[in-house]
Amino acid sequence: MSGFIEEAVLQDILNRTNIVEVIGECIPLKKAGRNFKALCPFHREKTPSFVVSVDKQIYHCFGCGAGGNVFGFLMEYERLEFPEVVEQLARRCGVTLPAKRPRDDKAASLAASLYALNELARAFYSSVLFSQQGSRARTYLAGRGITAETAKLFKLGFAPDAWDALIEHARKSNISLGLLEKAGLVVPKETGGFYDRFRNRVIFPIFDVKSSCIGFGARIMDAGTPKYINSPETAVYKKGCTLYGLGAAKDAIKEADRLVLVEGYLDCIIPFQHGIRNIVASLGTALTPDQARLIKRYTSNVVMVYDPDPAGELATIRSLDIFVEEGMQVSVACLPGGYDPDSFVREKGVEALASLIQHAGHLFDYKLKVLAARYNADESEGKAQIAAEMLATIRKFKSAVLRSEYLRRLADRLRVAEGALAQEMAAIKDAPRWTDSEEVSRRAPGAPATEKLLIKLMLEETHLIASLKGRITPQDFQNREIARVVETMFDLVAQGKECETRSLIQHLSQDSLSALVCESAFLPDVSLADKEKILDDCVMRLKKNRLQEGRRHLQDAIRRAEQDGDHDTVERLQHDFIKLIKKGQERT
Ligand code: UTP
Ligand code: MN
Repeated sequence: MSGFIEEAVLQDILNRTNIVEVIGECIPLKKAGRNFKALCPFHREKTPSFVVSVDKQIYHCFGCGAGGNVFGFLMEYERLEFPEVVEQLARRCGVTLPAKRPRDDKAASLAASLYALNELARAFYSSVLFSQQGSRARTYLAGRGITAETAKLFKLGFAPDAWDALIEHARKSNISLGLLEKAGLVVPKETGGFYDRFRNRVIFPIFDVKSSCIGFGARIMDAGTPKYINSPETAVYKKGCTLYGLGAAKDAIKEADRLVLVEGYLDCIIPFQHGIRNIVASLGTALTPDQARLIKRYTSNVVMVYDPDPAGELATIRSLDIFVEEGMQVSVACLPGGYDPDSFVREKGVEALASLIQHAGHLFDYKLKVLAARYNADESEGKAQIAAEMLATIRKFKSAVLRSEYLRRLADRLRVAEGALAQEMAAIKDAPRWTDSEEVSRRAPGAPATEKLLIKLMLEETHLIASLKGRITPQDFQNREIARVVETMFDLVAQGKECETRSLIQHLSQDSLSALVCESAFLPDVSLADKEKILDDCVMRLKKNRLQEGRRHLQDAIRRAEQDGDHDTVERLQHDFIKLIKKGQERT
């Protein structure tokens, strides 16, 4: 898991970080005895079952089974990658990370130059908009209902009607044409040289979440084509990873715990100006899983407001599946034909849009409605088409309860047998997804209490681990996940490394293992006096279970050999069986 960063550095960060402070900055924590409690941020609940331990420096949710150390929390909560979390915490506690490799530096410095250049271009376009040259563009924006204040907030601009306005402007700052090209701001001429990509157009700068300018959209001011010209992808602009307006909207999104997703620049800007501030635009491209994950950093509730044309419908339906796969809740607000969010707000008022958003229909109903308009639900052919398309979405729900609920509703609507639909759904195939099995095993409900208790005691009395090593082996555990945890603990101790909970978690390769460790750590406390005795008890029970299992195994084998009339084998196995029983008696 740690890979590129030295363990000692990670340990240093763990030692200097207080998980209670970090989590406390994300969600409200209440003191409860020696621990802190909260409503779990990872699933919906009404009474707090999310616990953070000061002593152990870990968290665990008794409701959904989530658990881990501070790294794991931030990865899950902020939707960050491990290296990002390490960087953030290192900065926070004043640990210096080893310098990155030179190649990274080079990439980082190109990115830095592009950000700076984009900012220079953005400032240029914006100054032009508010200058004499920008008067037509200002009139255009005013005609579209955008106030000067909003234009400033979204940092709109205007690209002059010339082939080299930006090139000339950049020359004053000694910026190379090569860099301008890398930023996608100029286009090479066939005859050599370059010209400005954006000319005589209103400029919509595109920002990342940190409010760095990463690209531009540029709209023509009449009915000409193309309507928009956009920046190409660059080292800092990845279209599938960007959402327009997210920087401006993110606080409102967190506050509302909901995001409104629209298609176009104006569809985002106009409702925002009128007070719907939790709004972002996907910019006409089909939604990507990266964009969904970006949204999930702020909320998992999405209302899509796409144009009610066939293209919009398709984009919506494709996006629905992506949200479902990411485990997000998505609903769809349907605009009347011919409107987009921009024109709807301007003609019907923002309250009308707010109300549509408020009453957005569930994705199931939306998709069914769209399909019912395309296929004839009264004919068997049409039913089959609708069923196939609906099942493709239904099977993506992670919750079995939801899947069965939607199957039932679909069966109702199509007036077909639920069993037939279930069969059909089971027949749909795609590549096995490891996340599915991960999700299922996450809570490891099968882990026997004894084994979990043993883990807890080992974590608390790490000095006993070395001596346990002579008495038990990982194979003594019935639960395979626990066996792996024990194996890791033995390894760590053998290497003379730290083995308390938060460090151990750092060495586990799977989230499900961390969650299991945390679940074990939060078992009810055992009094100090009883610890060793209980530990011994656990070891004994483990051995007994192992013997029992071995006996059962042998008995089965003997029975089979007897049935086959294989007397030699029966005799050998019976011999083994007696040995096993004797071994058991020695121990007790
Ligand atoms: P729309 O055609 O719905 O445009 O495209 P719009 O946003 O409503 O623009 P207005 O209201 O006519 O000014 C939706 C989005 O698709 C992208 C843009 O991001 C646009 O906002 N698009 C559209 C392009 O990139 N290029 C185009 O030529 C058209
Ligand atoms: Mn529009």
